[in-house]
Amino acid sequence: MKIETREKLYEGKAKIVYETDRPGVIVQYFKDDATAFNALKKGTIVGKGVVNNRMSAALFERLGRAGIPTHYLETLSDREMLCHRLDIIKIETIVRNIVAGSLAKRTGLEEGTSITQPIVELYYKSDPLGDPMLNEDHVRMLKLASPTEVAWVKRTALKINAILKPYLLKRRLLLVDFKLEFGRRGKKLYLGDEISPDTCRLWDSASKEKLDKDRFRRDLGGVEEAYQEVYRRLVTADV
Ligand code: TMP
Repeated sequence: MKIETREKLYEGKAKIVYETDRPGVIVQYFKDDATAFNALKKGTIVGKGVVNNRMSAALFERLGRAGIPTHYLETLSDREMLCHRLDIIKIETIVRNIVAGSLAKRTGLEEGTSITQPIVELYYKSDPLGDPMLNEDHVRMLKLASPTEVAWVKRTALKINAILKPYLLKRRLLLVDFKLEFGRRGKKLYLGDEISPDTCRLWDSASKEKLDKDRFRRDLGGVEEAYQEVYRRLVTADV
């Protein structure tokens, strides 16, 4: 079906969301812009939009087949996907399998330490506040989500981890940690946003080389090459 893009609804750091002529349906356009540390650091990762769009589509399709409700409808082009419009819950849900990033900082544990039972963390999606960590009492106080919704989000985040971890490992990628966003549509909750090297830590399973946005955050070099390698392993490889 031919889709017409209408007004820009929202422009974020890495994506633009457009209204369409179909009610309740939006287009996510993936940019090459990259930011880190609450946009203190800005740059461009050439080709990132294509990688993130194609990888998100592949993973949303995989999750959909496994019964996880996602906002993904179809891929329109290299940088555009059609999605259900969601009322996004202002919580960033992080799942961790291996210690890295802010968890290493918070606990003093060395990056790379494995975690026996995956950890779920909740953060307040608020740029002015710099996305602080929240517990469930804070979520209730701020009325960000009901206790039933939070329980569903945590349960679903762990299910997603259980599906994606082996899927990525088959492609020689360790899923160290990742961020998810959920939203409401009618009475149901859906997975939204994207799943990409911007929002996941992915390490080569043999060498533990970083193949994600940490290369940009930490000035490690080889940023574009890392995104292209993930793309090759996930989208073009026949596994
Ligand atoms: P962290 O270790 O910095 O808390 O990051 C955990 C995961 O969340 C990591 O895979 C990167 C992802 N993430 C985002 O998607 N957006 C963000 O703004 C931040 C800080 C992390």
